[in-house]
Amino acid sequence: MRPSTALFLASAAMAQAVPPNPPIRNIFTFPRNHFIENIAVRSNSQLLVTSMSVPHLFAIDPNAAVPNATIIHTFTNSTGLAGIAEVTPDVFALVTGTWDLANTRAELGSLAVWKVNFNSLAGPQVSFLTQIANSTIFNGLVRHPTNPRLLLAADSALGAVWKVDLLTGTYGVAFSSPLLAPTGTAMEGLHLGINGLTARGNTLYFTNSAQKFFGKVSINSEGVPTGPIQVISNSTAAPGTPGNVVYDDIALDKKGKVAWIASHPDYAVGVRLNGNNHAQRVIQNSTLLLNPTAAAFGRGSRKEERTLYITNGGEFTPEFDLINEGVVAIDL
Ligand SMILES: *[C@@H]1O[C@H](CO)[C@@H](O)[C@H](O)[C@H]1NC(C)=O
Ligand SMILES: *[C@@H]1O[C@H](CO)[C@@H](O)[C@H](O)[C@H]1NC(C)=O
Ligand SMILES: *[C@@H]1O[C@H](CO)[C@@H](O)[C@H](O)[C@H]1NC(C)=O
Ligand SMILES: *[C@@H]1O[C@H](CO)[C@@H](O)[C@H](O)[C@H]1NC(C)=O
Ligand SMILES: *[C@@H]1O[C@H](CO)[C@@H](O)[C@H](O)[C@H]1NC(C)=O
Repeated sequence: MRPSTALFLASAAMAQAVPPNPPIRNIFTFPRNHFIENIAVRSNSQLLVTSMSVPHLFAIDPNAAVPNATIIHTFTNSTGLAGIAEVTPDVFALVTGTWDLANTRAELGSLAVWKVNFNSLAGPQVSFLTQIANSTIFNGLVRHPTNPRLLLAADSALGAVWKVDLLTGTYGVAFSSPLLAPTGTAMEGLHLGINGLTARGNTLYFTNSAQKFFGKVSINSEGVPTGPIQVISNSTAAPGTPGNVVYDDIALDKKGKVAWIASHPDYAVGVRLNGNNHAQRVIQNSTLLLNPTAAAFGRGSRKEERTLYITNGGEFTPEFDLINEGVVAIDL
């Protein structure tokens, strides 16, 4: 084979191995200082978005000609919202608190879990579930995959998964592990252990931001592990990056084949779950992915189901104002 042919084949193989970025569209940019934290999608395609800097739950219609963020509810006794997850059809659980944003911790005793029910014709019904006395952060949330009574919450400070009974509000730690804990460093954004949570079958998937990995563990109906915690991928091993990837929240695709991880500072990382090699696909865009905090697939149509929505925490100005926080869509 002539060298030029070999070169051509090699570069063709490389081009195949690294597909070009899919298009990314801006959906909505919030005004200054709205640190956007999490996202859940209603079956009618509406995006529900939380901000840790303002006590509002926002809804965005991504298909509107000019999408806008409208306020669904204001949680007056809090400074911001964190995790949000659907717990029964069109009923969402979310967490409020009094946040120290620089430390990403809530005042002890200020965390509360609420339910927002969109099934009533009278409009969204908001109900208080419980106040958490002894945690400083409920980060990612997910309904237990097999037990509809339990909400699971990632405690990024203690290194624990909590369970909250969605009927009685009773709560406690389901399990904890050094593999869920942050590392000793106090650097901003790096002292979060377990962060994103999602689940399928009997498997709980999570990210540990500080320890820089994405992992899984099998759990029983009470949320207790039935096997060891396994590392699926290390964020520092993401191909084509300078090893600076920090994992945040996760979205599983419908078939459970790929987990998409919103990743700081400007990545969305797809990790293959089927097969053994857990190949990673890295999407990087320094103008549209701005400290991605969470990811969720669209719902309501085939087109929406191929759309990955990413929330951007935003970027700091030299005066430490946050700008360009919002939601973008990746057309996978
Ligand atoms: C980011 O994505 C947009 C839209 O897909 C594209 O036009 C732009 O070139 C990308 N920018 C970078 C820095 O990759
Ligand atoms: C967008 O929604 C906000 C309320 O959250 C409202 O004040 C504003 O007028 C809306 N903008 C448009 C263009 O509809
Ligand atoms: C407001 O939150 C504090 C905890 O931060 C709690 O002690 C108090 O009972 C709450 N008040 C209301 C009216 O919910
Ligand atoms: C928090 O309080 C609950 C309810 O009183 C208790 O069951 C649990 O053990 C406590 N957990 C921690 C981590 O302090
Ligand atoms: C992740 O990194 C650790 C060492 O830091 C290594 O032992 C482990 O094999 C890696 N796991 C994967 C799935 O790459």
